[in-house]
Amino acid sequence: MKAIFKDFEIKGIKIKNRIVMPPMVNFGWSDENGFVNEKHVRHYEERAKANVGTIIVEATAVKKEGRGFVPQLGIWNDSQIEGMKKITNACHEFGSVMLLQLHHGGFYTPETVSERAVGPSIDTKISRSYSLTVEEIKKITNDFINGAVRAKKADFDGVELHGAHLYLLNLFASASINQRTDEYGGSVASRLKFAGDIIKGIKNKVGNDFIICYRMGANAPTLDDGIQIAKELEKLGVDILNVSHGGVNRLIPKVPENFEYNWIVYSGTQIKKHLKIPVIVVNEIKTPERASFLIENNLTDFVAIGRDLLTDPQWADKAYRNEEVNQCLGCKPRCKRYEGAELCPKNKNVNSH
Ligand SMILES: Cc1cc2nc3c(=O)[nH]c(=O)nc-3n(C[C@H](O)[C@H](O)[C@H](O)COP(=O)(O)O)c2cc1C
Repeated sequence: MKAIFKDFEIKGIKIKNRIVMPPMVNFGWSDENGFVNEKHVRHYEERAKANVGTIIVEATAVKKEGRGFVPQLGIWNDSQIEGMKKITNACHEFGSVMLLQLHHGGFYTPETVSERAVGPSIDTKISRSYSLTVEEIKKITNDFINGAVRAKKADFDGVELHGAHLYLLNLFASASINQRTDEYGGSVASRLKFAGDIIKGIKNKVGNDFIICYRMGANAPTLDDGIQIAKELEKLGVDILNVSHGGVNRLIPKVPENFEYNWIVYSGTQIKKHLKIPVIVVNEIKTPERASFLIENNLTDFVAIGRDLLTDPQWADKAYRNEEVNQCLGCKPRCKRYEGAELCPKNKNVNSH
């Protein structure tokens, strides 16, 4: 059990344990302007207070026209810094390392947000799909960089670039989706030029003591592609890699029968074997025992606990005390919190809001 409570240092920043709260949107809490409110502050503070080592604040739009939904949190304007700062200040009080997930919805930007569903190239299955021009890509590159600068001003310790779940950066990285023939398509290095320019720009603007985490889709479309992408991201200077999936209907790697976790965790453990930088694995890890096994056996550096940290804000403290955690029910077809952050059937018992 104690393996998850070993500390870790990265860029001179001490992380007190290996437990990560992955980004999870609180649907319905923000507004048209993408502002943080008191509920967000209390939500993250509650988990920080109960000893989550690293908190990655939910997908936050770097561009108003790139929102994945309304009302999504935003970091496209200086006026959004103050609210974000309330989250970091509240959580730093309890020693959590704070990252902000920077997001552009790409094809998954709804019509209510933008006429165009933008990506690297047109997808004939998506009627609003639009292939970005080089000039437009450069503008969005700057939107990400400016988002990171604002995150730094809001006292975040770093950012996570959302390059998974078929959002914009994932679309560019994916060999099966990106059909460009210019410098943003083709080889792995070219497909990651967009991400690479963002990473370079962030490093130039915010200095070296700022963590750049990247959430990648492991199946892009195959795990072998994922491994190549991960190696390239390491070369580009990413500090931590958070391995998730590349969206629905992608190719799913076969998991050995004796591996007691799902294919997303398996993908993360396989990708780790090819890297020197630390890796976060995620998806249905659920209990402290399962989390600890992954760390003890050096299958990962960090474990992200998503829905189970929503149903049990005390997850980390309970793990420390060897107490049972209040597990997520795993609602099907998907988590009720996608319809509204208050709709978790376990919410009433464990959250004060
Ligand atoms: C309500 C909800 C919102 C989510 N929002 C995000 C998000 O903002 N960014 C992201 O990369 N993943 C998001 N995810 C995915 C989680 O970060 C995590 O990968 C997923 O829940 C699997 O981990 P778990 O099985 O421990 O919950 C979300 C998941 C849920 C349930």
